[in-house]
Amino acid sequence: MKKKLVYIALALAFALSAQAQTIPLYLDETKPIEERIEDALNRMTLEEKVAMIHAQSKFSSPGVERLGIPDVWMTDGPHGIRPEVLWDEWDQASWTNDSCVAFPALTCLAATWNPEMSLLYGKSIGEEARYRKKTVLLGPGVNIYRTPLNGRNFEYMGEDPYLASRMVVPYVQGVQENGVAVCVKHYALNNHEVNRHTSNIIVDDRALREIYLPAFKAAVQEGKAWSIMGSYNLYKNQHACHNQYLLNDILKGEWGFDGVVVSDWGGTHDTEQAIKNGLDLEFGSWTNGLTAGASNAYDSYYMAFPYLKMIKEGKVGKEELNDKVRRVLRLIYRTEMNRNRPWGSMNSEAHYAAARQIAQEGIVLLKNDHQVLPINLDQVKKIAVVGENAVKMMTVGGGSSSLKVQREISPLDGIKARVGNQAEVVWVRGYVGDASGEYNGVVTGQNLKDDRSPEELIAEAVKVAKESDYVIFIGGLNKSAGQDCEDSDRSGLNLSYGQDDVIAALAKANKNLVVVNISGNAIAMPWVNEVSAIVQDWYIGSEAGPALAAILMGDANPSGKLPFTFPIKLEDNSAHALGEFVYERSNEIVDVKYNEGIFVGYRWADKQKKVKPLFAFGHGLSYTTFEYGQAMTDKKEMAMDEVLTITVPVTNTGNREGAEVVQLYISDLKSSLPRPIKELKGFQKIKLAPGETKEVTFTIAKDALSFYDDAQQTWIAEPGKFEAIVAASATDIKSKVVFNLK
Ligand code: BGC
Repeated sequence: MKKKLVYIALALAFALSAQAQTIPLYLDETKPIEERIEDALNRMTLEEKVAMIHAQSKFSSPGVERLGIPDVWMTDGPHGIRPEVLWDEWDQASWTNDSCVAFPALTCLAATWNPEMSLLYGKSIGEEARYRKKTVLLGPGVNIYRTPLNGRNFEYMGEDPYLASRMVVPYVQGVQENGVAVCVKHYALNNHEVNRHTSNIIVDDRALREIYLPAFKAAVQEGKAWSIMGSYNLYKNQHACHNQYLLNDILKGEWGFDGVVVSDWGGTHDTEQAIKNGLDLEFGSWTNGLTAGASNAYDSYYMAFPYLKMIKEGKVGKEELNDKVRRVLRLIYRTEMNRNRPWGSMNSEAHYAAARQIAQEGIVLLKNDHQVLPINLDQVKKIAVVGENAVKMMTVGGGSSSLKVQREISPLDGIKARVGNQAEVVWVRGYVGDASGEYNGVVTGQNLKDDRSPEELIAEAVKVAKESDYVIFIGGLNKSAGQDCEDSDRSGLNLSYGQDDVIAALAKANKNLVVVNISGNAIAMPWVNEVSAIVQDWYIGSEAGPALAAILMGDANPSGKLPFTFPIKLEDNSAHALGEFVYERSNEIVDVKYNEGIFVGYRWADKQKKVKPLFAFGHGLSYTTFEYGQAMTDKKEMAMDEVLTITVPVTNTGNREGAEVVQLYISDLKSSLPRPIKELKGFQKIKLAPGETKEVTFTIAKDALSFYDDAQQTWIAEPGKFEAIVAASATDIKSKVVFNLK
């Protein structure tokens, strides 16, 4: 018996060791990833390595079939999972199981000023990406809102680097918890769309460091983003996708990024630069082969055969190639080859609930005279809803972020469902905007054509407005070219399609007029003083209708705050006051000068003595009221290595529960270089019951007091006096407290 046991033990040990020997290191999950990467790399042929660093289809790049290393699959991003397109075409693949939940656009997320909402967003969209078997989600976008004309602002997180940084980190973490990589875009300085491939951005180092890079840095260093997308534009005359300064020096050098730099689709222009200047993975270049639809189109990519040829001819070594492959392998290990990652889920009620919650928290109440909102349905018999955006599907269009949704509830349907039998709801369109509804073969199926004249439409709207207790105008921009759309910018700040005339006419017809602006950008409001209430709504996705209705009827108390400034006119925005734009399309490289430097958004508005913004950064009203006490610091003086605590009590003085975003700005009272009057360095969203008081605490360290010294090429905090400013918006200052930095 004893002998038998020994035999069994021996056989078992043998079997185990034999098995151990058959698991190659690169597949051995008990071994550190870096060792597995080296082993995989050593097993790959030169051809396999080159294949791994460029696309094989519109949205995928190859792994190594022979070794069982999976392919990489990408998807847009950033608001939902893009429907499947054909292998090598933008047309739909016509799957019947690729509809998704549309989450609110990132401007709305930023307007929540709530990092918990970012985490929920990332987790939810990450689960959808995972369920759809995607390796990389192409998002989030954190390009700074520099001009209200940028067609892609709706995909980004507003004008302030601190707000964008705090909001991007949880998004990244939430997505990557699913074993799906983010691809933070578009790195860097892609702040307008016209000439996005040919704009050479001229910006000073301070603005680069203080305004345009912090959100990317936070995504990389704090969020630990696994990939980043190079932008289309140029910086220092080099395309951002292969840029010595942005990629090698800053991203991989200073910030220690160990992930993959993915080119924006068609953002690669030169093999040698791509090899040397930091690009790791090339996607979507419109090479000759590709436009002609040849079967080997992808071989013509800059980082395909041309690279192989250069290696074979001895013009470049393999060092850069190995570095790129290592990075791509690392990405695959973190995602596809992580067998412990969750399975994800799609179109779940939890995802709809998340979309709705984020939307409700992001909608901003800009104006509410005589408490015209919320609408009390007990006192209302008839509500007129006017405007095309009340019915237009907004999830289709706008460029690469366009979606095919499982459901999208329009504002009108949301309002009707909420009002039920309590009142009559009548819709008239008021104006004709964009009647089309198609993107890459996804069609809304809505027929919005209307041949009536503007006069007829206004007359109809005015008649209904006069007969109603309330008028809700729902208009703004849409996602067609020149409104809020990739590869195009707006031509001005004003609303199109004669909407200003419609609003002015409605204001005369009914004093209970609520204007709901749907956009990802600021608009001009020549009628601002004529209307009772203004709501900034965004592209809020699947739950657009229920979320808006909940705000209008008061089921939810508005708590969103603007993530960017609304100027009165375009020239009040610094990029237009000082910057130099090239509005005509150019195939030649053109310089675009950011002459305003660090004075972007409220940093510029603060300096203007005579002009106040229409609505300030950080502004947003509630159905309740908040009272702020005096801010206090825990000490009068802080040393360079100390932290300072600022506290302020905030009380809900109204009679319903609400949430307030308490904002902390820092002002450097004397400095050797010009500094903004104040800069956001902290915020907290707190929920308060009626009568409740909470003490809000902010902690700041040296970095909150520092600026980038371009002469010394480093961040410095200068000793001296600073002011901590507690505010409800950039122009609604509640109290100040001075302290000294030793
Ligand atoms: C856009 C990216 C997008 C990519 C893939 C590009 O044109 O700039 O944001 O992720 O296409 O669709």
